Amino acid sequence: MSVLAILFISLILSNFSNKTEAKTFSFKETTIDDIHKAFKQNKLTSRQLVEFYLNEIQRSNPILKGIIEVNPDALILADKADQERKSNASKSLSRLHGIPVLVKDNIATKDKLNTTAGSLALVGSIVPQDAGVVKKLRNVGAIILGKATMTEWAASRATNLPNGWNGRLGQALVSHW
Ligand SMILES: *[C@@H]1O[C@H](CO)[C@@H](O)[C@H](O)[C@H]1NC(C)=O
Ligand SMILES: *[C@@H]1O[C@H](CO)[C@@H](O)[C@H](O)[C@H]1NC(C)=O
Repeated sequence: MSVLAILFISLILSNFSNKTEAKTFSFKETTIDDIHKAFKQNKLTSRQLVEFYLNEIQRSNPILKGIIEVNPDALILADKADQERKSNASKSLSRLHGIPVLVKDNIATKDKLNTTAGSLALVGSIVPQDAGVVKKLRNVGAIILGKATMTEWAASRATNLPNGWNGRLGQALVSHW
């Protein structure tokens, strides 16, 4: 193949990828406003958003250890949000409707997620109800995507507990201390 032919093909390809990029949603550094715009323009669904974040968590969590659990119902909740958005197209929904949110592992959620403050001692325990903030999040349609890790018992377990360490997940990558 001549150099010109290769150049030509790569020009076509780069043109093609530029065009598709313009049409698809860019997840990097997105904002809630961008997300709602994309929802409105049918460029994005809550399911796609949740799938993206679940993949990112799966990819980077072995190194970052930022997420202690993901919600096994996250995709079901995303589908529900998409359905609600469709059937409520004329109404204005909350800014958090269909948006995935992580809560810290000491914030109670009465669902399939454990609430443990990073402690092995609380794995499998059942909280009496959603925490107030979780009730509010659910009421406005946010999707509880999972639990963010934390220093075990918010560092009250010991005075010399390393920042970001807990018995369940080990040491999270912390940027500064
Ligand atoms: C949206 O529509 C669903 C039916 O799919 C309904 O149950 C729900 O209450 C509506 N939500 C809002 C916020 O209007
Ligand atoms: C919660 O803990 C139980 C162990 O009691 C475990 O089987 C389950 O997978 C945990 N939930 C999640 C969402 O990881």
